[in-house]
Amino acid sequence: MIYLADTANIEELKKLFYYFPIEGVTTNPTIIAAENRPMSKILPELIEITGNRMLHVQMISSKAEDMVREAIAYKKMYGLGDNYFAKIPVTAEGYKAMPILKDKGINVTATAIFTQQQALVAARAGADWVAPYVNRLDNISSHGIEVVGNIVENIQQYGLNTGVLAASFKTVDQVHRVSMMGSHAATVSFEILERLRSHPMTDMSVEWFERDAEGLYDIEF
Ligand code: E4P
Repeated sequence: MIYLADTANIEELKKLFYYFPIEGVTTNPTIIAAENRPMSKILPELIEITGNRMLHVQMISSKAEDMVREAIAYKKMYGLGDNYFAKIPVTAEGYKAMPILKDKGINVTATAIFTQQQALVAARAGADWVAPYVNRLDNISSHGIEVVGNIVENIQQYGLNTGVLAASFKTVDQVHRVSMMGSHAATVSFEILERLRSHPMTDMSVEWFERDAEGLYDIEF
């Protein structure tokens, strides 16, 4: 499973990219709104900092034709390449837009997925990635992890060329469980990424190693 950053905060992204193997960025209107700046200011900065990593940008249009126009406009306006993915919600209009976008050479991430069938239809419509929302499922007394597992299994069973990009996490355990389910990718907030990579015993162990090494490691480097 690869990790993506579910944030549009440039400072957070700077830190994440500096230290960790983060392979892309995902945004949605809520993530953009949290930055309190318009898309025209945020998007160029996101493009620059993301570099060659994947950049998943959500479309806000509701009609298929408008989603396609919106996705093409971003691509042309900012000279986006193969690392750009238009995030399309799995509405009826969204499903209609997916093959059109693929025909026009634009990568598609099907988003706001809550069932295995929604994911399968999106995969059949040509989506490169499908994004099931784990925590939002858990919060309605459903089972996000199980849905991710079923989608992974279906993709393998049918030999589909679509990746599972698990999204919507509130706990490290949810991320752990989707990785055990074989999810190809997980997009995770800065806070959860910080928590999942750290452990107090690691910090203590490093402290003990440093103490034990004192005065003994005399080889210059
Ligand atoms: C992915 O890009 C999704 O939009 C995002 O992970 C949703 O997360 P949330 O349920 O925490 O809003």
